[in-house]
Amino acid sequence: MGFSRARAMLVLLVSLLPMVFPVNGIGANWGTQATHRLPPDIVVRMLRENGIQKVKLFDADYDTLKALGKSGIEVMVGMPNDMLAPIAGSMKAAEKWVSENVSSHLSTSNVNIRYVAVGNEPFLSTYNGTFLRTTYPALQNIQAALIKAGISNQVKATVPLNADVYESPNGLPSAGDFRADIHDFVLQIVKLLSDNGAPFTVNIYPFISLYIDPNFPVDYAFFDGNASPVNDGGTNYYNMFDANHDTLVWALQKNGFGNLPVIIGEIGWPTDGDRNANLNYAQRFNQGFMSHVSGGKGTPMRPGPIDAYLFSLIDEDAKSIQPGNFERHWGVFYFDGQPKYSLNLGTTNSGLVPARGVQELEKKWCILKPDAKLTDPQVAPTVSYACSLGDCTSLGYQTSCGSLDSQGNISYAYNSYYQIHNQLDSACKFQGLATVTRSDPSVGSCKFSIQIKPYYGAAAHRLSSIEKTLCSILFLVLFLWTTQ
Ligand SMILES: *[C@@H]1O[C@H](CO)[C@@H](O)[C@H](O)[C@H]1NC(C)=O
Ligand SMILES: *[C@@H]1O[C@H](CO)[C@@H](O)[C@H](O)[C@H]1NC(C)=O
Ligand SMILES: *[C@@H]1O[C@H](CO)[C@@H](O)[C@H](O)[C@H]1NC(C)=O
Repeated sequence: MGFSRARAMLVLLVSLLPMVFPVNGIGANWGTQATHRLPPDIVVRMLRENGIQKVKLFDADYDTLKALGKSGIEVMVGMPNDMLAPIAGSMKAAEKWVSENVSSHLSTSNVNIRYVAVGNEPFLSTYNGTFLRTTYPALQNIQAALIKAGISNQVKATVPLNADVYESPNGLPSAGDFRADIHDFVLQIVKLLSDNGAPFTVNIYPFISLYIDPNFPVDYAFFDGNASPVNDGGTNYYNMFDANHDTLVWALQKNGFGNLPVIIGEIGWPTDGDRNANLNYAQRFNQGFMSHVSGGKGTPMRPGPIDAYLFSLIDEDAKSIQPGNFERHWGVFYFDGQPKYSLNLGTTNSGLVPARGVQELEKKWCILKPDAKLTDPQVAPTVSYACSLGDCTSLGYQTSCGSLDSQGNISYAYNSYYQIHNQLDSACKFQGLATVTRSDPSVGSCKFSIQIKPYYGAAAHRLSSIEKTLCSILFLVLFLWTTQ
């Protein structure tokens, strides 16, 4: 009895092992374009409690890196696109960047920095070629600076590129090559990566394919194997991710770099702001991807573990919605660190673990006064004002708040503005049309949010301690002067 129980325990433990210790681990993108960012310490604890071992950042924020110190979490720090030109033009600037944003964090706070992302999707067509000529020299200078700082073995420089830098004329992976108009620019980068043992980083988005092409076969975006396969010379592709990934591998191979490691810099699915952006699809995609990765099977062209970073960790309500209303809803967690859906990352036994210690504002909302007239001429201008400074991306056809009535719509807009402005009384006026309520106006899938308390950053403390020091010096000087 005791024996069989022990045996059962052992079987259970062994069967859990691959779940608890995945081969490569999963990473997450941690962006901070939010009106109210979660304090970095809380996010780092959330990462650890969820077993997320790698993060990719879009900048080199001091507080974020400090919070990551000693966590053991692998970090890819980011250099924004607007720094590509200055860094490309000056070796000194590159050295300063590496010294301030990499070396100092390695030595003073023990941050496990492994990569520098030089730019972010700099060859995106919406940039009209703005960064085409500066990306490579910036990468070159950062690489040289890493070598000069003596950290090039530990820290690799790479460039996260969008997946349309390569293409296949007939849609089959084996015909893949870099896009003709930027072929040489990409190849230059590939060669430098290869020379320095750095990986090619690519962002792959089946959601975008579905978003821009209404005829895209929906099942092919997912990993259930329900789509009719694409046959590439005897190799069957059952999902877009594999096919897209292998189009890149073929492109690399065609140009003589068939062994260059590939990192998936971003992969994920948004949950709102479009009819295909919802909790069901996001859960199906991300869980499907996790199972796909945790099998260690890889893709037909690259069997083995896949190195990937989910996009993204937390919703960001201040992102530009130029790509679409879904842009603010990529998080696996809501803005306040609450999980959106069940997702087994293979790292815990309980699904996603919410952020702890998050401080919310009071439980109150701003809504349209119940006796206000919908025909009031101030309704339209106040709503458009609220939406322009708040976030109305959950309103619209087939989104989470798509079935609100007109009253609900107006209230939603007012509340968004009110919460983003920290529930100031003055932010719930709207020409006398609005009022504060303590009863939750949420209906069904449509959640009227309560914001979290604003985070001012450790920089404020640092500044104030400098100010304090300056003040005491000034005081001392004055004291000495007046007592002369
Ligand atoms: C380091 O990174 C920060 C944040 O991205 C940036 O503001 C700063 O200019 C960088 N430092 C240097 C010396 O370039
Ligand atoms: C790119 O070009 C288009 C059309 O000429 C223009 O509307 C857009 O503002 C440009 N974008 C950038 C980032 O320069
Ligand atoms: C609510 O707002 C959305 C987005 O502005 C709009 O598409 C929808 O028609 C509105 N619904 C009503 C009932 O006013």
